[in-house]
Amino acid sequence: MSGCPYFAKRDIRHQQKDEEERDDSQDGTNKASKGGIIYGDYLQLDKVVTAQVLQSELKGNKIHDEHLFIVTHQAYELWFKQILWELDSVREIFISGHVRDERNMLKVNTRIHRIVMIFRLLVDQFNVLETMTALDFFDFREYLTPASGFQSLQFRLLENKIGVPDNLRVPYNRRHYRDNFRGQDSELLFESEQEPSLIQLVEQWLARTPGLEENGFNFWGKLEVNITKALKMEKEKLERKPESEDKDEHMAEFHKQRDVLTSLFDEKRHDHLVSKGERRLSYKALKGALMIYFYREEPRFQVPFQLLTSLMDIDTLMTKWRYNHVCMVHRMIGSKAGTGGSSGYHYLRSTVSDRYKVFVDLFNLATFLVPRDWVPKLNPTDHPFLFTADTCWDSSYCSSDDSD
Ligand code: HEM
Repeated sequence: MSGCPYFAKRDIRHQQKDEEERDDSQDGTNKASKGGIIYGDYLQLDKVVTAQVLQSELKGNKIHDEHLFIVTHQAYELWFKQILWELDSVREIFISGHVRDERNMLKVNTRIHRIVMIFRLLVDQFNVLETMTALDFFDFREYLTPASGFQSLQFRLLENKIGVPDNLRVPYNRRHYRDNFRGQDSELLFESEQEPSLIQLVEQWLARTPGLEENGFNFWGKLEVNITKALKMEKEKLERKPESEDKDEHMAEFHKQRDVLTSLFDEKRHDHLVSKGERRLSYKALKGALMIYFYREEPRFQVPFQLLTSLMDIDTLMTKWRYNHVCMVHRMIGSKAGTGGSSGYHYLRSTVSDRYKVFVDLFNLATFLVPRDWVPKLNPTDHPFLFTADTCWDSSYCSSDDSD
């Protein structure tokens, strides 16, 4: 280094120039030139991006927006495929019993949460298709008849695997939905109706909730005692109030609340509601779910609580999907019949209902929430089950191996 200030300045200028010339963004080697699979081949893009065949073009009347219509449907079907992928893997963890090792619950939770995120995207995706006007759609609609989303195999598989029950489906022109499918598709659908659905698997898991054992913590027995006692005290407090219109109103409200809460302990009523399709979970599973709701902060119940929340999210988002779809259909075709042959808007509107809410019981549990001091107290010293499971190590589990 020179001691002369001129040279020192010149050195700095040189250094700056060198730095400017060295462009880090261009560092690296082109690995693809050395062989191996390349992007387009890996993703089989030759198939994917050539799969947009415009019927309008084939008929000699190319309509610009048909491309968007096709790409949107294809994007939906790809995401349906990913949802089925996650759903099958979660069902497999339950079916194989791996879920008894509670460390596997994180994997279940993560994948169910991923399904939630995908559904969020699918609900919003209609916005893009809605940039097409009804008249634009009218221009090519006749070319796609009798194709219809109603014939989407993956959508039906998805409903069945989550647990939409056959007897609660809205009939399609008074016929069974499977009548619209043939051959292997029809067989796949039939199989998916016979296999354990997500709700059935979750139900079995909920029924094993620790703390329900009558000879153990006996959550249900204790809850009934607490609620009965608390209701009695509330009634006495109300009765002590001076006569007034206000008191009558409070008393009427109290009676309503008491009927609701005492109905919770009526197993026969529960079974009756199940037979009517108004409740889906077994009585024992319902008890487990309520226990998880009340004790969600306890270490052992945190992940289960998140899972129950995600299951409700799936139901909510599927309802929003149906709602957004039907609104779009209304805007596109008014009350004309669908290309698949249904009454269109009116048919679809009837599917936006609780009949299709698989985890409806989890929503309804909020009806039975009571003040925290009515909930049986849990003591970590007396109830170690809150922290540790009776050891159930699953040989398939390996903390460093996240693939099944
Ligand atoms: C312009 C846009 C669309 C219109 C006008 C439309 C119209 C309809 C109509 C009228 C039906 C009732 C069945 C029939 O008679 O055809 C239906 C069902 C269906 N559509 Fe669409 N649809 C559109 C976009 C989409 C998209 C982007 C998807 C994504 C996959 C989709 C998926 C479905 C599914 C899964 C069903 C069956 C729903 C059920 O039965 O619960 N549709 N659609």
